[in-house]
Amino acid sequence: MGEDLEKVLVTEEEIKTRLVELGTQIDADYAGRDLLLVGVLKGAVMVMADLARALHSPVSMDWMAVSSYGAGTTSSGVVRILKDLETDIKDRDVLIVEDVIDSGLTLSWLVGNLRSRGPKSVEICTMIRKPLAFDVDLDVKYIGFDLPNEFIVGYGLDYAEKYRNLPFIGTLAPHVYEK
Ligand code: IMP
Ligand code: MG
Repeated sequence: MGEDLEKVLVTEEEIKTRLVELGTQIDADYAGRDLLLVGVLKGAVMVMADLARALHSPVSMDWMAVSSYGAGTTSSGVVRILKDLETDIKDRDVLIVEDVIDSGLTLSWLVGNLRSRGPKSVEICTMIRKPLAFDVDLDVKYIGFDLPNEFIVGYGLDYAEKYRNLPFIGTLAPHVYEK
């Protein structure tokens, strides 16, 4: 994949170090509670797998898949559930695990949807936050890295369903988009 990449923004080592820090914080915040991690497919697969292993308490894990209607690479905020939770989250402590928050529209819809099910709490953990996310009223408790407004791939993030398996986060060379 080397020739397809432009630059590395977050290395594998930096991701690992940050996840240990976030894991420590989450372990402390949820000490003695019964936490449910909700991963958003497919992008959050990597962060979910690594974050869960950075935690020292026996959390539960469940998954949702959602699709935002909207043209091309922009999110519209109108969301459809492709795969719902198997867990009843009433009175549960829920932590949504995300790969990236860009416009934040998908996530603010998701938070509203989960809140309507009567959980004890709903918080958000994202590996990457981009600056557009500041425009939407979203309280993000755990953030891996703040990055500039660039299209990124790797560590779960795709371009046309590819590059999710890069162990780091980076940008693609212009020729990739011209294919
Ligand atoms: P939103 O704009 O915050 O609603 O983001 C919606 C979804 O778009 C995210 O969950 C990602 O799947 C995808 N996305 C946003 N920014 C990027 C990016 O830079 N690379 C790859 N996917 C992205
Ligand atoms: Mg996502």
